Amino acid sequence: MLEKIEPLKEEALAAISAVADSDALEQVRIKYLGSKGAVKGMMGWIKDVPKEQKRDFGQQANAAQKTVQEAFEAKKGSLGSAKPQASSLKPQLDITEPATAPVLGRRHIISQTIDELIEVFARMGFDHHEGPEVEDDRHNFIALNIPQTHPARDPLDNFYLSDPFGPSPTLLRSQTSTVQIRVMEKTPQPPIRIISTGRVYRPDEHDATHYSMFHQVEGLYVDKKVSMVDLKTTLYQFARAMFGQDAEIDLVPSYFPFTEPSAELYVKMDLGKGPEWMEIGGCGMVDPAVFEQVGYDPEEWTGFAFGLGIERLAMRKHAIKDIRWLFENDVRFLRKF
Ligand code: DAH
Repeated sequence: MLEKIEPLKEEALAAISAVADSDALEQVRIKYLGSKGAVKGMMGWIKDVPKEQKRDFGQQANAAQKTVQEAFEAKKGSLGSAKPQASSLKPQLDITEPATAPVLGRRHIISQTIDELIEVFARMGFDHHEGPEVEDDRHNFIALNIPQTHPARDPLDNFYLSDPFGPSPTLLRSQTSTVQIRVMEKTPQPPIRIISTGRVYRPDEHDATHYSMFHQVEGLYVDKKVSMVDLKTTLYQFARAMFGQDAEIDLVPSYFPFTEPSAELYVKMDLGKGPEWMEIGGCGMVDPAVFEQVGYDPEEWTGFAFGLGIERLAMRKHAIKDIRWLFENDVRFLRKF
């Protein structure tokens, strides 16, 4: 019986080394190493082995079985690395799964309002200009006919960046009217029809309606024979575009150094709670003193100007009760618009 061990071992080893895939290897395993396989079955021969050889036979049969088992494991390992097991062939990425929607940002409600203003006034032929937020004394005050002694220049009412009483004070602009001057200086020959939007700064305690930074939209129209009727018509069309066809406006006499006559602009709007009047800014006919500052002949040129608070417009239109919410960057608030 002893001599039959070696050929069987060789046969099994040859079969193992010949297989090319794991299915064939499994067949070989069943044939030789399975519980009814030939190598396992070898142990059954022991009953026919003479007594004095039983010990040798057992040892050799065990060694042969071990060798075949090892060859099998080695082969399994090499096939395994060449061909992945079925479980790792499953798709790792399920392309049919719905993707998580990307979180999109949006324009701030003040930016959206500015875009709307630019569009409404563009339809009436107004170009959009911007000016610097750091201004000098000339553009913020002097050329706008605001004399040295005027209370609007008070250091407590402005963010001066240099000595307010020095030779060339600079400050964060307190109004967008500065851009009227800048545009006229760059335009030797009117007509001019522009709006300007942007931030302005005034030291203010912060509460529901005050903030030390806010936005204005400024308008300027310069041409021959511009009248108060043109101003009123323009503002009326603007109010209707912004607040609906039923909006009405009223000009209430007022005073600004750079316009004469001057008025406060009131808009009557109905935002669902019945009609109400609200003051949204100032306006008037450009003061001849301003034209002289930029070298325009006041006998030849006429014009109107206006300046409105953008936060006021936006807060009214969208029922925002507290100006501070606009600048706190709380996404729960920002996502509402
Ligand atoms: N600049 C003024 C302010 O900030 C608003 C204003 C009033 C602008 C009358 C104008 C105007 O252009 O004509 O209070």
